[in-house]
Amino acid sequence: MSAPKALLRANEISGSPAGEAVPRHVAVIMDGNGRWAAARGLPRIAGHRAGAEAVRRTIRACVDAGVEWLTIYAFSSENWRRPAAEVADLTGLLRHYLRHEVAELDRGGVRVRFIGERARFGPSMTAEIEAAELRTASNARLNLNIALSYGARDEIVAAARALAADAAAGLIDPAAIAEAAFANRLTTAGQPDPDLIIRTSGEQRLSNFLLWQSAYAELVFLDVLWPDFDAAQFTLALEAYAGRERRFGARPV
Ligand code: FPP
Repeated sequence: MSAPKALLRANEISGSPAGEAVPRHVAVIMDGNGRWAAARGLPRIAGHRAGAEAVRRTIRACVDAGVEWLTIYAFSSENWRRPAAEVADLTGLLRHYLRHEVAELDRGGVRVRFIGERARFGPSMTAEIEAAELRTASNARLNLNIALSYGARDEIVAAARALAADAAAGLIDPAAIAEAAFANRLTTAGQPDPDLIIRTSGEQRLSNFLLWQSAYAELVFLDVLWPDFDAAQFTLALEAYAGRERRFGARPV
């Protein structure tokens, strides 16, 4: 019997151990909280709260499956344009999560990092974000990136600006700028690219999420609404991933 197709050479480039059918890095676009709430006649915040439960399940499923990196899109830079009441509800929920979940994440060996424009949440939440990163900095069981006020185009523009500033200061030769120099100026510098990106709720787009890093990611779109995402759905996504033939632009062997 032949090995699952995802075993093919793929992870030599993304950084996963060769011969590993489990993605090293899973990234998730958690979509459908509002529709889940509307279907039950509940306010949208009820959907976001149920979404936070699904985040807990997903962290556990990643640990159980041996995934090393999980990145979740919790608040996009575009989400600031939602009605003020929903923005307040969402930031309140995120603050609650920071205050009440970080101790448990720490106990579970999860290292938490945040990507995105944290300063937009104000000084006190920024301080809590930094405290969470510091508290969990020596954990290694699972690396959890929480994308907050994150937009990939902003991230790419910031990297370009940093490179331009270094070039203007004579620190780098523009002709010598290569992919690695660019990647090292992204908020994910030093991290493996996502192998698998899951989006729930049936929508099939990236919505400004990890645009540089997803160059060779496998995309799996599930019809389930995010609050209903569970271990069985996660297994479905892993199975879809294991059935993909990852070639990174090369010819099949
Ligand atoms: C998309 O659903 C989801 C969000 C904008 C927020 C995601 C936030 C959470 C899952 C809550 C908590 C996160 C953490 C880390 C505790 P939507 O509101 O766009 O749904 P819709 O498309 O059905 O309206």
